[in-house]
Amino acid sequence: MPKIFTDIFKNNQEWVQQKLNQDPDFFNKLAKGQKPPILWIGCSDSRVPANEITGTQPGEIFVHRNIANMVVHTDMSMLSVLDYAVNVLEVSHVIVCGHYGCGGVNAALDNKQVGIIDNWLRNIKDVYRLHKAEIDALPTLEQKQRRMVEVNVQEQVFDLIKTSIIQNAWARGRFLQVHGLVYDIANGILKDLNVTVGDNSEIDSVYKFDV
Ligand code: CO
Repeated sequence: MPKIFTDIFKNNQEWVQQKLNQDPDFFNKLAKGQKPPILWIGCSDSRVPANEITGTQPGEIFVHRNIANMVVHTDMSMLSVLDYAVNVLEVSHVIVCGHYGCGGVNAALDNKQVGIIDNWLRNIKDVYRLHKAEIDALPTLEQKQRRMVEVNVQEQVFDLIKTSIIQNAWARGRFLQVHGLVYDIANGILKDLNVTVGDNSEIDSVYKFDV
């Protein structure tokens, strides 16, 4: 077996031992259930591991990852994760975390065909169309790509609050905040984009459900 594969089990053994040394009940407690306060919607990119960059432990963040941290309203996987997190786990915070240097966002700014993924990237092209004037006015490709990462996160926050899942939770008086963050893979810094929404006041009337 290749070392890259066998190392996984060796590292796992060491990690188990390290956790047990810190707290002999670590796994017994986790086995009883989970009550994470945060849902994280991030990019699948291997350089953006949710727990590691936030210093959180198993049991503290419920995670959904896909290419370019998208909230696509026909995505049953995302909707199921969101519904379970909001209505069963009763998280108080939903975080959309994008990252600079995102291959998905960069590809969406390009016109090359990549394959099946083009269908997924089209959702990001829709974000580009909404913000085209601002993005196109930026002088360099790198600046365009970085700003697109930010506005894409902002639009995914808006896409979350368009869902009946979030709107119904607010209608029931639940404390639930939706946040937009960006992670910089070049320096490890996580930044709040300050686009937090905690009630239905920022939902465009077109998307607002009657309560
Ligand atoms: Co990415």
